[in-house]
Amino acid sequence: MTFTVEPTGAALAAEIHGLDLARSLTQEDAEALRGALLEHILLVFPGQHLTPGQLADFCRRFGPITRHILDQYHHPEEPDLCIISNVVESGKGRTTAQTAGSYWHSDLSYLADPADVSMLYAVEVPQSGGDTLFCDMYAAYVSLSAAMRARIAGLTAVHNIMSGSGADAKVALTEAQRAKVPDAIHPVVQRHPETGREALFVNPGFTRRIVELDAAAGIELLTELYAHATDARFTYRHKWRAGDVTLFDGRASMHSATGGYTSDQPRTLWRAFMGGSYATG
Ligand code: SIN
Repeated sequence: MTFTVEPTGAALAAEIHGLDLARSLTQEDAEALRGALLEHILLVFPGQHLTPGQLADFCRRFGPITRHILDQYHHPEEPDLCIISNVVESGKGRTTAQTAGSYWHSDLSYLADPADVSMLYAVEVPQSGGDTLFCDMYAAYVSLSAAMRARIAGLTAVHNIMSGSGADAKVALTEAQRAKVPDAIHPVVQRHPETGREALFVNPGFTRRIVELDAAAGIELLTELYAHATDARFTYRHKWRAGDVTLFDGRASMHSATGGYTSDQPRTLWRAFMGGSYATG
């Protein structure tokens, strides 16, 4: 293994040093990175300089890429990547009333096959603000009371891209896009297929309701779970530097943009979603 892993000391996240992601990873390094990702949930690779093609090649080492339903934000050179930006003049900037993605979510949980692993790459960052919060959904689950764990065992939840919170931070879908994303149902507690550990799998951004409960009881339960999972002891705040690549395990985390920067400060990230079987072609 040719890199070092430095845990941040927060509930999750480690920095990886000694790898230039523009170069093809050795099989040994790819496997060691996967192990580090499973252990730390979020990996940060500072100081990278990547073309869209190099970044997509790196991402594919973590599974096939699922293209995002919002195809108007696909990267013009590499549609397996999509662009999150407030630079409207670029043609890829979003004009949502609130900062895009500023609600807790697990990527693509509204699909039958959500993202296993996600990547965000900071191309340009504001001088202040624009951080992303992450939380550890394993820790959130194991720290629930035994009574709560018993209460949620066996429950399932409906997820939909346009439901949950964050309506002002989401882009409206076209009819054609909407037709591609019907409701998806997932267990409220999922066993991670690689680590075998149980994690909460509901999120304010996309979870619509609990199947087995009436609407009011479901919302009450979800509100309690969200407040617990996003408690500061389970979170890590990433302050972006241009050139940071992050990889994170969506089966064990939620994340949220935070905003907090003015519109004259450009902020552009490229992202990709790996694993899952959905593809828009
Ligand atoms: C997202 O993943 O939806 C946005 C993350 C960010 O912009 O910080």
